[in-house]
Amino acid sequence: MPYQVILPAAGQGKRMGAGKNKLLLTLEGIPVLIHTIKVFEADPACSGIILAIHPDDEAEFKLLLAQYGIHKVSSLVVGGKERQDSVYNGLKAVGSFDGVVLVHDAARPFIKVETIHRLVEAADKEGGAIVAVPVKDTIKKAVNCQVLETVERSSLWAVQTPQAFRVSVLLEAHNKALEEQFIGTDESSLVERLPHQVSIIEGDYDNIKLTTPEDLYFAEAILRKRIESGV
Ligand code: CTP
Ligand code: MG
Repeated sequence: MPYQVILPAAGQGKRMGAGKNKLLLTLEGIPVLIHTIKVFEADPACSGIILAIHPDDEAEFKLLLAQYGIHKVSSLVVGGKERQDSVYNGLKAVGSFDGVVLVHDAARPFIKVETIHRLVEAADKEGGAIVAVPVKDTIKKAVNCQVLETVERSSLWAVQTPQAFRVSVLLEAHNKALEEQFIGTDESSLVERLPHQVSIIEGDYDNIKLTTPEDLYFAEAILRKRIESGV
């Protein structure tokens, strides 16, 4: 099932504190951005990659795409103030393609192609689908560090990307959010405001987002394990 992917990559990586976009940090010598793009570059079902970037990164990103022989980036768009703005700019570059579009954080380099394919199929059938994993911790609700209640865990999911939608569904959701000045932390939260279903595809705990410096240790470990096991 063919799909296109929007990769929001226009953040500043403030919580990583590297003094530059965290996507330029390397894992086993290769930039995080390239690790993520390579998954889609190598997947025959992916028919186009739309990359949302910060203007300050443009020259360096273009150089990396050339250096690593990436051919599938069909559009480079300027990102916006919020991640949601970057995704919206990417969505406008989808053009006349009216199949399934994925949104995937460029900061999640460990997504598996098998998960992507399950996700795309579900989105094609149902309109929208997201990758998530069951919550492992006990979650409490609290105010001012005083526990109010323990939240029933069996119904809780920790949501990741990719998130996949029919293009028309995601466009409708973004337009409504823009009109109503709603900002969500993921695409699903915009689609949930419409009368559309979003289904969950169970993914892997190692599809982490590189956010804070400790995540780099986990990322190195995940990558080494994959290299050792030849996946
Ligand atoms: N992103 C984006 N445009 C923004 C903000 C974020 O395209 N205005 C992208 C990031 O580049 C990243 C993904 O969205 O690939 C997830 O965002 P996050 O992990 O928050 O990254 P940053 O915003 O870069 O990090 P921070 O919030 O710590 O500054
Ligand atoms: Mg951010």
